[in-house]
Amino acid sequence: MATRWDASTYDTSSAPQQAWGATVLARLSGIAPDASVLDVGCGTGRVTQELPALVPEGRVLAIDASQDMVDVARGRLGDRAEVWRQDVLDLDLDEPVDAIVSTATLHWVTDHDRLWNRLGSALPPCGVLEVQCGGEGNIQRVREAIDAAARETAPELVGFSPWLFAGPDETERRLRTAGFSEARCWLEEQPTYPEDMGTFVRTSILPAHLARLPEQRCEQFADTVIARVEMPLDYVRLNVSAVRGRD
Ligand SMILES: C[S@@+](CC[C@H](N)C(=O)[O-])C[C@H]1O[C@@H](n2cnc3c(N)ncnc32)[C@H](O)[C@@H]1O
Repeated sequence: MATRWDASTYDTSSAPQQAWGATVLARLSGIAPDASVLDVGCGTGRVTQELPALVPEGRVLAIDASQDMVDVARGRLGDRAEVWRQDVLDLDLDEPVDAIVSTATLHWVTDHDRLWNRLGSALPPCGVLEVQCGGEGNIQRVREAIDAAARETAPELVGFSPWLFAGPDETERRLRTAGFSEARCWLEEQPTYPEDMGTFVRTSILPAHLARLPEQRCEQFADTVIARVEMPLDYVRLNVSAVRGRD
């Protein structure tokens, strides 16, 4: 079932993701001005909009699986980027890009063997991958709150998770299998204090859960989760810096 994102609320409540995105783009600082860069899971394009300044003579591309997100990103980016709807597992480019970036997205993709293979195929030899996503242990306390709320108000969601929170060692192994010659992965705790915790939890954490409930039961479930969640949200991020090997 496709996850429906509330793109306009996400756009105004995703300050934590934008801060994480800035640290990912900082890792691209040596990129050639005429390079091509793909943002995977661009959301509303707030991180993507910083890319044209990094590659002023290059090309910026962006994909997202959600049409609502793509519509907002296109409105924001205009002709500064090519944005289209695509699942990263079906990623299909006319020609490889020099670099791929992704922020706060790839834990929403649960087949990581296929994922890293797809991304590797979209890069030329020596192409660069800079990623940040949820990693091993991410939002453990929030997940316990979700499980408790499911047992209380939404039994069909007991045991459901839309995420894969991978660890650094298994990810390095997958990257090498997918043809990356250099692969450095590390976890980083990021205790997070969103300005409006309720809106953030509904919009950034629960969209896949809420998509599986009838609309009239969504509020009760979300309220039960939010009542159990404590600040700071216990984010743990998986960072990936990798370079594709020569064939
Ligand atoms: C938390 S948002 C992050 C958006 C943006 N990178 C940012 O930092 O603001 C996660 C995004 O991943 C997208 N996404 C989830 N699964 C995807 C997939 N399989 N392929 C492409 N995009 C996906 C969602 O539609 C959503 O826009």
